[in-house]
Amino acid sequence: MTQLSKEYIGRLNGRVAIVTGAAQGIGARYAQVLAAEGAAIVCADVIDATPIASDIAATGGKAIAVRTDVTSRESVQAMVNKALEAFGKIDILVNNAGLFANLALKPFDEISSEEWDKVMAVNVRGPFECAKAVVPTMRRQQYGKIINIASGTVFKGVPMLLHYVSSKGAVVALTRSLARELGDAGIRVNTLAPGLTASENTLANPAWQGAVSANNIASRAIKRELLPEDLCGTLVYLASEESDFVTGQVIVVDGGSVMH
Ligand SMILES: NC(=O)c1ccc[n+]([C@@H]2O[C@H](COP(=O)([O-])OP(=O)(O)OC[C@H]3O[C@@H](n4cnc5c(N)ncnc54)[C@H](O)[C@@H]3O)[C@@H](O)[C@H]2O)c1
Repeated sequence: MTQLSKEYIGRLNGRVAIVTGAAQGIGARYAQVLAAEGAAIVCADVIDATPIASDIAATGGKAIAVRTDVTSRESVQAMVNKALEAFGKIDILVNNAGLFANLALKPFDEISSEEWDKVMAVNVRGPFECAKAVVPTMRRQQYGKIINIASGTVFKGVPMLLHYVSSKGAVVALTRSLARELGDAGIRVNTLAPGLTASENTLANPAWQGAVSANNIASRAIKRELLPEDLCGTLVYLASEESDFVTGQVIVVDGGSVMH
């Protein structure tokens, strides 16, 4: 893991956070940063997230890794049960798990129905299953923060990824409706929408390099690569009590490519 460069001041001391898709890429960085701010972390991923949990523990934080498939209600409930056994409560859910960096760019009429359903299952039903499983605990606490991860592509209408862009559009809609349903229970629901980010898997996929990356950078008000680190200030803000009167919102973090 890259070393964290910033100063952390314990803004999440005593909090418990679940980060889905935390085994690698941006999710691993989210887990690290929330831990650095004082939260105990459940690193939930369909692949083994033990290295990230161990990394957090080695730097003095609290974390467990739980193998979880966000498309399975049973798997998600088992993960939530483990979180409660380990840490006794759940304050923050970061719905980061998603299918993106490994998807092939293709015209919409070459996307099979099976591929469409798979993307929707992970990117839309996953956040739904996770929210459903944590809300009973958050309701009991009368406090919670759900942070969904969408994408700047929703506002740009990016071509060649219709299933992905549609799924992230649904995440924005899900955020707004869920925020209305959960406000009275003290549960805030917001969306962080990153632009194209130099994550492990986008860097490894030639489709996201070259002209695609250059065009993204050129479209920004701040013309440079977006690093996972750039997303973390907004994530911590949405996870902390500093944003307690903010709900149903989408914050785009992309150096000012999308302005909405
Ligand atoms: N990288 C970007 O440019 C970018 C831009 C905008 C939004 N995003 C979003 O940010 C999130 C993370 O992106 P990334 O680039 O780090 O992606 P990534 O593919 O590197 O990581 C996604 C993680 O989700 C996990 N995952 C996949 N299916 C799962 C399932 N069924 N259950 C549990 N975990 C599962 C994967 O194992 C992986 O660890 C995604 O939601 C992505 O759509 C990424």
